[in-house]
Amino acid sequence: MQIKIAPSILSADFSVMGETIKKLEACGADLIHCDVMDGSFVEPITFGGQMIKNIRPLTKLPLDAHLMIEHPKTQIKFFAEAGADIITVHYGACAKISQSYLRETLELIKSYGVKCGAVVNPDVPVENIFPVFDLCDMVLLMSVFPGYGGQKFIPDVIEKIKKARNYAREIGRGDMDIEIDGGVTLENAGEIIAAGANVLVAGSTVFKSSDMKKTISDLRK
Ligand code: DX5
Ligand code: ZN
Repeated sequence: MQIKIAPSILSADFSVMGETIKKLEACGADLIHCDVMDGSFVEPITFGGQMIKNIRPLTKLPLDAHLMIEHPKTQIKFFAEAGADIITVHYGACAKISQSYLRETLELIKSYGVKCGAVVNPDVPVENIFPVFDLCDMVLLMSVFPGYGGQKFIPDVIEKIKKARNYAREIGRGDMDIEIDGGVTLENAGEIIAAGANVLVAGSTVFKSSDMKKTISDLRK
C-alpha cells in the first residue's frame, strides 16, 4: 500500500501559511492535514473554511480537513464548498447527538463528492465505527487526545490499527486508508506502518525538522 505523509499545518506559522503550503508540496507531502478546532469539542480554536478556501489554489495536494468540532453536520457545506478533498468527523461529537448522526454526516459529505472518514479518540474502541466502515474512504485513529500538537504517542493505538485493517479486509475494503494522528515520529513510524496504517499525520516532527524533505521521506520509510 502507498504510504502517505500528511503534515499538519497546526504546527505551522499561520502568518506565512501560503509559503508553507507550497514548501510542503515541494518537500514531498502527500496530503495537507488541516486541524479545525472549535473551542468546544476541543479547547483551542484554529480556523474554519476560509483557510481551506485560501490555500486551495496554492497546491494540487489533497486537503484533509480534520473537524474537531461539535455538530459537524452543520459545517460540512462550508468545508466542502471551500475545496476540502476529504473531511473527517469525530465519532464522539456525533454519538452524543444521536445514533444515526455519524452515518448521516458521512453521507452528507459524500453527497458533495468529497471523501469522508470517521475518527475515534484514544479511549474509544475502534469497533464503535465498524458500522460505518462501508461508507468511509478513510478512518482516523487518534494516537493522542485531540487539541494540541506535540503530545506523546499513545501506544495502545497499535492494536486498534491491526483491528481496523483486519476488519477492512474482512468486508472487502482492504485498500481503505487508515490514518494515524498524534505523536508520530521517525522512531515510531515504522511500527505504525507495520501494524497496517498507511496515512501518517505529522505536525511537530515535520515542522521542527531542519530538513523537511528528508523528514517526510524518512517517515515514509
Ligand atoms: C491534534 C491534531 C493533530 C496534531 C498532530 O489534535 O489533530 O493533527 O497537529 O501534531 P503532532 O504530530 O505534533 O502530534
Ligand atoms: Zn489532526
